[in-house]
Amino acid sequence: MFDHVNAVPPDPILGIIAAHAADPNPKKIDLGIGVYRDEQGDTPILECVKKAEQILDSTQTTKSYLGPPGVKGFNSAITELIFGKDSAVLSDDRVRTVQTPGGTGALRVGADLIKAVTPDATVWMSDPTWANHYAIFPAAGLKTEIYPYFDGEKSALRFNDMMDALRQRGPDDVVLYHACCHNPCGVSPNPEQWEAITDLAAERGFTPMIDMAYLGFERGIEEDALSVRLFAEKCPELILASSCSKNFAVYRERVGAISVMGKNSEKAANVLTVINSLTRQNYSMPPTHGTGIIDIILHDEELTELWLSEVTGMRNRINGLRKTLVEKIHTAGIEKDFSFLERQSGMFSFLGLSVDQVTRLREEFSIYTVNSARVNIASFNDSNIDYFVGALRKVL
Ligand SMILES: Cc1ncc(COP(=O)(O)O)c(C=O)c1O
Repeated sequence: MFDHVNAVPPDPILGIIAAHAADPNPKKIDLGIGVYRDEQGDTPILECVKKAEQILDSTQTTKSYLGPPGVKGFNSAITELIFGKDSAVLSDDRVRTVQTPGGTGALRVGADLIKAVTPDATVWMSDPTWANHYAIFPAAGLKTEIYPYFDGEKSALRFNDMMDALRQRGPDDVVLYHACCHNPCGVSPNPEQWEAITDLAAERGFTPMIDMAYLGFERGIEEDALSVRLFAEKCPELILASSCSKNFAVYRERVGAISVMGKNSEKAANVLTVINSLTRQNYSMPPTHGTGIIDIILHDEELTELWLSEVTGMRNRINGLRKTLVEKIHTAGIEKDFSFLERQSGMFSFLGLSVDQVTRLREEFSIYTVNSARVNIASFNDSNIDYFVGALRKVL
């Protein structure tokens, strides 16, 4: 059975992690990694998570199965957090949410759902998008296409081109959006642009699917939920894949959720039965340790406050680093304009370097990033930022 099997090329990010780990240079920097880093270069457990985990440990009495929906308190709390407690679609009972193994699990369940209910649908993804999107939707047997999104020359959103492309879409199409903090380019529509995007979705009748992996990392929880809330207000249906990996820093616990909004309560409930049958065939029951922790946090006022302050801390650190980087690049006399870094948000941005320059950063300075020069801004800190800027000046 396996005689004819050749090795699949590794994910480029994994190659970078391995090369960085093997590099003896004490000044080495890994700018490719996809996790938040603090000033010490660590990805710590949040205080609110530590406290909730203790409560979970002392109150949990069994590890028996919880059934396909997993932790119901998590499902309802995350739905209220994203859609808003007072949202009309929640009072009309039009949303159903089920926890999934991470945001990736939510995207795959969502893709399987689309395939099950509209097998001929085409999923439209932004150019560029998170690398795994390119794999997940075809793996579910769906057709995919791309729509214009990022202007590499200007490091900005191709808003008009995107709108022109989406104006051609209709009921057989699903359009995938990043709710905030676009990965990889860091460019998001502003609130007025989201208004126009969501108006267009309602007018053209395509189904919005929103990937929300960085809630709270752009401007704040309420602000970052705007895109989803506008789609919910204007469109009859939507699919949402959310992740708690980054904003609760529970990466390895695999916490995510798939939410579907239907035209009414009964239709949403019907879709939930399809989701439950798809997950049953896939992993049967979801893991519940991470969702149990978040259920506790979101149902305890003090822990919720603590969590909000910890998310604010992560967001402010990233935004502060964006500002510092732009200032230091300017002070170093680098002519190329990097001010776009400050206008972008979330952990990722493209530096706009050639493959040659990326290679020089790696070979001459032990600074590791993928060939597209996408960098994780949270990888910078007081002790490596000057070294990076010096290296950047040399390769430019
Ligand atoms: C845009 C985007 N969507 C989804 C995910 C999936 O996150 P998770 O680790 O929860 O599967 C990520 C993670 O990097 C991401 O960047």
